[in-house]
Formats: sequence, structure tokens, C-alpha cells
Amino acid sequence: MSVEVMCNEQRFVLETANTAYVLDMHEGGHLQHIYWGKKLAHKCDYKAMRPFVIAHSSFEATRGVMGYEFIPWGEMVYSEPTFKASNSTGERGFDWIYEDYKLEIINDQLTELSLCLKDKIGRYRIQLIYGVYEEYDMISRRLAVINESEDQLTLEAARSLQVAFKPGQVSRFTHLAGKWVGEFQVLQETLSEGRKTIDSRRGTTSHQANPWFAVDADATEETGDVWFGHLAYSGNWDIHVEKDAFGLVQLCGGMTDFDFSKVLKANESFETPPFFIGYSENGFSGMSHLAHRFQRDVILPKDHRDHLRKVLYNSWEATYFDVSVDEQKRLAEKAAAIGCELFVIDDGWFGERHSDQAGLGDWYVNQDKFPNGLSELISHVESLNMAFGIWVEPEMVNKDSQLYDQHPDWVYQFSNKNHTEARHQLVLNLGKKEVRAYIKNWLGELLAKHDIHFIKWDMNRAFSEPGIVEKSHGALNHTKMSHEQQQLWMEHVKGLYEVIDHIKRKHPHVVIETCSGGGGRVDLGILQRTDQFWTSDNTDAVDRLSIQYGASFAYNAKAMMCWITDSPNWLNQREVPLTYRCHVAMLGALGVGGNLDHWDDIELAEAAKWIAYYKEIRRTVQEGNQYRLASPTISSRTNYTGIQYVSEDKKHSVVFLFEDGLKYGEQLTLIKFKGLDPEAYYKDQSGFKATGSFFMNAGIQWQLSKQYTSEIYELHKCEE
Ligand code: GLA
Repeated sequence: MSVEVMCNEQRFVLETANTAYVLDMHEGGHLQHIYWGKKLAHKCDYKAMRPFVIAHSSFEATRGVMGYEFIPWGEMVYSEPTFKASNSTGERGFDWIYEDYKLEIINDQLTELSLCLKDKIGRYRIQLIYGVYEEYDMISRRLAVINESEDQLTLEAARSLQVAFKPGQVSRFTHLAGKWVGEFQVLQETLSEGRKTIDSRRGTTSHQANPWFAVDADATEETGDVWFGHLAYSGNWDIHVEKDAFGLVQLCGGMTDFDFSKVLKANESFETPPFFIGYSENGFSGMSHLAHRFQRDVILPKDHRDHLRKVLYNSWEATYFDVSVDEQKRLAEKAAAIGCELFVIDDGWFGERHSDQAGLGDWYVNQDKFPNGLSELISHVESLNMAFGIWVEPEMVNKDSQLYDQHPDWVYQFSNKNHTEARHQLVLNLGKKEVRAYIKNWLGELLAKHDIHFIKWDMNRAFSEPGIVEKSHGALNHTKMSHEQQQLWMEHVKGLYEVIDHIKRKHPHVVIETCSGGGGRVDLGILQRTDQFWTSDNTDAVDRLSIQYGASFAYNAKAMMCWITDSPNWLNQREVPLTYRCHVAMLGALGVGGNLDHWDDIELAEAAKWIAYYKEIRRTVQEGNQYRLASPTISSRTNYTGIQYVSEDKKHSVVFLFEDGLKYGEQLTLIKFKGLDPEAYYKDQSGFKATGSFFMNAGIQWQLSKQYTSEIYELHKCEE
């Protein structure tokens, strides 16, 4: 059993294959964090654990300073509250009494423990729900609130995760920061007294910060304890990590309480999104292995979870908005000839969409560009043995569109304030039933009428003027109170998930890629319903190395879409050899995004060669364990970036090596591989044979001859 209840039902032990998480229930809703780390050999050891409580002064919590699992607001605890609510009689805080617990086996992967708290007068219930994914060494935590009163309860904060680390246990916080064309930069900060917050108030996950964290004391890539977590949510969120004067570190996260409100009427309930957390004793690579495997096996949607990702061609960087059926057909022919398996037409195929200034919202096929409809292109693509995919941006509208003319009340706005336009577009209110119905309708029809196997679902601006209006007597007015309008942030996410789930249910064969100007909406919430993500609009191979490297801390390679594009690159005019560009794009799910009309025969042949080779190694890349041998961002002590993949059975490994900062004529670099079976023999592509132990300890010498040298080293397990 993965959950043990001991010590008079006061102590709860969640055990996974290799880890344990222990908490105590005290009266007053003071659920105390006891332990999170390596699984112990004997159950009695969990009983022996003592709560950590520091009694100090009248300026600290009267019950003592301790590590919390749940912080109700209003008492002498000054970290971010897990929960804050008020009711219509003006009560602003409640005493929470432990009521009981419930254990439930959800399926063969998941057991859930719910701890139930009740407000003293018995009007409200809170459930702290812990999910134990035993085999995956992962735990989830979420909160459910049930209003059993006759009256309304207004939630002001409801976070999913609250956990604590004892003094000295952790001293460093790792997170991912960035911007458009610069996502997933790994930042590491020493924790000092005070609070560090990462968050998004932009309506979606954001490029600027990602709802993921890791904390450690002295971990390296391969060694040491790392605790990490992923919030499964695509709207406004926050993660706070706070070190107090006693050295305790409290960490909490979930939906942010910024501009947040949720009204629960009598008998209504509410659940926060899950926070998935894990612990590894094998450093940051151990952490990533756990996260990647969990995503591949549990998080990604079932229908395509076990399928290898196809090599796709996307025509965005080739044609931008200047789309014509003939040009797309020609590109499709070239894409098929080099081995692409899926052809995706990007923006510009619909409405009066000739630039980013008009047409969004009008989802009919543009007759001038496709006089015979989309089917002409789709049949051509299929005759080339490729599947067909298409770009959409359903949550948006250009002011210059038929949709906006008809429904100006469908966008978020403040009634007497100007709209802020970004990329000339406004955000549709997916909290409105009619907006969701509109999207389900046009997208459903598009998919029903055409043989479409792939959707790139884009979202190209952040929110502004978060207000809701209704049309009445020709005017647009706010009809909801402002605290009700504050619910729009989460209603949007709920609406988005509802629409995607509906589409997935009706069209299970369709693979969906999440995109938000690149990697602006990548999180486990969206990845529970989309199969892959567009990592960044930055397709320069050199920048991409560090973007993909950073993304790999939190996200798996199968879901990470990478394209080979033109040189010089559109973004920075950098010229990079085709081999290097191909190798960088082969680090995840491979695609091609260049203008193949501009590639000569030699280039097309080289791309074809690498695509064919990628197909041979893609199972190991997409489903193997990934090792970051040397990084482009964290350490500048190497002159190369190295990324290795090892198949689960350790029979096959591919190592990608990239020159990354040649200095002083240095030529030879020693590369030590990871993750092989030390006893087994492996043969490389030149026929050289040695043991796993040899490759991992003695290593190989890599000849770095010039800038942008890159190489793939492949090992197969063999007989002695
Ligand atoms: C976003 C995407 C791009 C492309 C354009 C189309 O920027 O990230 O890949 O689809 O939109 O407008």
C-alpha cells in the first residue's frame, strides 16, 4: 500500500517506489510537514520522526514555528496563505478542525489520500488531496473546497501546494525564466531570508516564468538531493519560496491570489489544479528522468502517448502570410522528398488574413488562396504520403474581422477604457458559453470536413483589461460585480480546457501542438490535453541549444518540437551550417521549418540524410533517458554542449556533441558518457568496441576542429 496511516491516525506516510512523504495532522487545521526524501527501510522509522517546532516569542506563531502543509489565513503565520476566504456576513477567517481521511485507489497507477477539514461550525469543508503515483516516484497535491452553508463563500486564495524544508535542507532555488524568443533560461539563486516569487499575471502560463521549480542544497547533474514540482495549470499562477529567520523554507504555489476571486454559492464546490512534485537523490538529471517518464506515461494524452512523433514540415517561415495553394503544394513535394511525414500549413489560410492586422476570428477558407478549398492541398499532401495539419488561434480576434463586428462584447474589456491591442488582436472571453460554442462549431466543422491529423493551437498575446461586458440596447456594459469579473482568469482556462477536451474527444486521431508565440503556454495542465509544444519562435540553432537545454529540466523530449530552418536565421541573421542546425533540431521531436524553395540539391540531400537517420534513432531520443553532459548555459568551463539519450533497456544510446565556445586553439575534448550498463559491451559507429564502464569513465576524445562542429555518436550494446 502506498499510503500508511499511523500514530492514532495522526501521521500519514505516502510512499512511492523510492521516496517517502510524511505529514502530521494536528487540530486547528495545522497540518505539519514532517519528511520528504528517500524511502526508509523500515516503517517504524516513520513513527520515530519528531515534528519540527521552534517555540520562540510572542512575535511568532503561538504553536511554534514549523513547516506547514496548509496555512489558513488570519493566524500568526505570515507566509503566503494556502487558503483565504470570507463570507457575506463579514467573517474573514475560520477555525479548521480535522474531520477524517479517505483512501481511494483511483487506478493501478494512482492512490489518493484526502484529508478532510471542517470549519468549526460545520459550514465549509476543505479537502487536501494527495495523489501517490507509486511507480513514478511522483505525488500530486490539490485542494477541494465545499460550501455546505446556505450562504455564499468567497475564496480569496486557494493554492494547491504547501510544503516545507527544514533548516539547512535546501539553499538554492532553480527556476525557468525568459521572454518571447528566449524561453526556458535556467536561473539558480541562493535562498536568503525573505520571499522569492515567480508568477504569471498575464492570463496564461507565460514565456517570462514557468510554473516549475527545483530546490536543492548541493546537487550536481548526477548527484545530490533535488526536490521539484510542476503546477498543471495554464492561467495565472504563482510559486513563493520563503526562508524565515530560523532557516525554515516554506514553499507554496498554485493559482495566484492576484486579482483572484471565486464565489461559491450554497452547495457549490471548487477544486484547484494539481501540483505534481517529486524527489530525486540523483541530482538534476535524476529529477528530469522522473519528470520526463511521468509525462510520457501519465500526463500526455492517451491517444498519442505511445506513438513516436512524426517528422513534420511547417510552412510559416517559408511563406508567412503569403499563402497560395500552388506554393504550398510545391513545398509539400519538397518536404515529402526529404522524408517529412506531416505537412502543416501555418497562419494565413483563412478569412482576410493577409497580415497580422486582420482576419483572426473568421475561420473560413480564403477562396482566393484556395479556389478549390483546402481539399486540393490535402489530397496533394496525402498523395505524397504525408498527413495534413493546420494552424489555428481560436482564442483571438482582430478588430478588423467579421467576428468582432458582430460580437464586440465577446472580448475582455473595461467598458469606458480603450482596448490595448497587441499584434492587432484582442482576447476572446472563453468564459462565455456562446464563445466556446462558436469555437467548437467552426473547429469541429473544419475537422469533420477535412482530413486533418494535426492542429497547432496558437495564442499570440497576453491579457489586458480583464473585464466582462454584455451588449444591451446597443451599449456594452458591465453587468457583473467586479469580484465576479475577477473569476474570468480561471474561467478562461476552464473554457479553453473544455474546448480542447471536446475536440480531442470528437477527433481523437488529431495530434495537438500547444503554442503561444513559441513556448508561452507550456505546463502540465495543457500537456494533459495537447501532445507536444512549440518550444520557441527562436529557430536559430545556437540560441535553441540553450532554450532546449533549459526546457529539458522540466519537459520531455518527445513533446518538445524543434525545427531545422534557414540560414541566415530570420531572427538574428546568424549563419550556421546545415549539419549543426539538423543536429540541434534532432534533440527533440524533429520538424523542418525552412523555405525549401531556397535550398539547393546538396542541402536537400543532406537534410534528407539526417531525417532518415533521425527516424532510426528517434525512439531513443523521444523515449529514452536524457543526460545533460555539458551545458550551454550553466557552466562555461566546457567548450561543448553534450546531450545524451539512453534507451530504457540501455541497449542503445545516442550522444549529440556541439562545439560551443572554442577557445585558444583547443582541439581535443574528453567526453564521458552516462547511463550505460557498466558491464556490457557497446560498439560505436566506427566499429570501436568497449564496455559501458570504459565509455563512462575513460571516455572518448572528441576532435573539435572548428566553429559549429557537431557530431552524433551512437552506441549499440553488443556481444563481448
Ligand atoms: C506565432 C507562432 C509562430 C507562427 C505565428 C503565426 O508566433 O509561434 O510559429 O505560427 O504565430 O502567426
